[in-house]
Amino acid sequence: MTKQFPIRYSDGELTVDGVSVRSLAEKVDTPFFLYSQAAILGQIRRWKMALGGLPARVFYAVKANDNLHLLRLFAASGFGADIVSGGELFLARKAGIPGKDILFAGVGKKEVEMEMALREQILAFNVESPAEFYRLNQLGKRLGVKVPVHFRVNPDIDPKSHPYISTGLKKNKFGMDPGTVLNLYRQSRGMSFVEAHGVHVHIGSQITSLEPFRLCGQWVRQFVQEIRRQGGIVQSVDVGGGLGVDYHGVLPWPPPEREMENVVTPEDYIEEIVSHLRDLNVQLFFEPGRALIANSGILVTRVEYVKRTGSRTFLIVDAGMNDLIRPCLYQAYHRILPVVDPERSEREIVDIVGPVCESSDFLALERPFPVVQEGEILAVFSAGAYASVLGSNYNGRLRPAEYLISDGQVRLIRRAETHEDLLRRYEGIKF
Ligand code: LLP
Repeated sequence: MTKQFPIRYSDGELTVDGVSVRSLAEKVDTPFFLYSQAAILGQIRRWKMALGGLPARVFYAVKANDNLHLLRLFAASGFGADIVSGGELFLARKAGIPGKDILFAGVGKKEVEMEMALREQILAFNVESPAEFYRLNQLGKRLGVKVPVHFRVNPDIDPKSHPYISTGLKKNKFGMDPGTVLNLYRQSRGMSFVEAHGVHVHIGSQITSLEPFRLCGQWVRQFVQEIRRQGGIVQSVDVGGGLGVDYHGVLPWPPPEREMENVVTPEDYIEEIVSHLRDLNVQLFFEPGRALIANSGILVTRVEYVKRTGSRTFLIVDAGMNDLIRPCLYQAYHRILPVVDPERSEREIVDIVGPVCESSDFLALERPFPVVQEGEILAVFSAGAYASVLGSNYNGRLRPAEYLISDGQVRLIRRAETHEDLLRRYEGIKF
């Protein structure tokens, strides 16, 4: 990232678009998520520039962060939405994304969700199994519409990412083997209520080298040629998401604690994909999630206690696995620093843990860290994607507020939950 990155330390204090995180944390309750509109718009601009003049469209993967106000930023810049449920469809529509800009993926679409999507006249279903395909045909017949589909193909390519977020291997539940897709393509020609528009492929997430994308691009190219040889029509190729971000060296200062991950830029990624698929004469659909938003948000948390046991030092903070589950679920690394004076000479090895009653409730383990005191504020970086969306009420904990800094102003974009919210789903039920 350049020196102008909107989330940065200035005179030893973390600022987001010029606003001091410390001063905000003095005014509002912690923990909270804080996003930079300038950073998000910067990513959007980058993708638009890199795709300029190409027959390509971006469908933001709503699962990365479904905050309505953030969805509106994507909608306003003309991005569509990649959704995986009726709930995400509902939110995308609320954010003003029209059905014609929505793609529906996922292995377990229920009929009621399909109907909802058909009513919204979405652009296409990314079909994950023959059974789903036949069900869509039946539904199209019942509703008297022709259902546009892409077939999600599983190319059996290793994305070299965490096993839980690899999706394009044979053993994964996602997509269909190429033979099955060719077969469905053939069948679709005799069917009246489905229309095959193209193929979809998504091999995994947090991919940090070009190699898997190269293999995938080459593979898809050959596959599209094979479909065409067999008489199938391919108008669009949806290349999914998956571009990884740098979780280590997001900031220009202070320097990363260890070597930066070898992360691919959106420009290089797009160039790689396009180089394989350009002359196929298809529309390219991209579905980035993380790459658009991960590094545009932080989780701000307070040190409640410093607990020294002799063998370990625990910084017990007020954000837990229910606010950010990535470290626990994927052993993911998130950079964490005090928001003030992070470059202290006194350092120690700490575990940064939350208040949840699970030993897996940690944000960092055995991390070299500046010595901090109770009450200090820490920032957990790269918390824009797959953070607040994966939040829960476990242990009776309330989901935190989300703020957006736009044009130097702090805007509440989702309030913190209250104890009353814990009663909402009992409404109308007698005890
Ligand atoms: N398209 C499809 C069909 C997907 O399944 C996904 C992500 C995306 C696009 C967006 O991928 P991205 O560009 O964000 O890599 N919770 C995990 C990540 C799960 C990703 C699931 N699918 C994490 O925190 O790392």
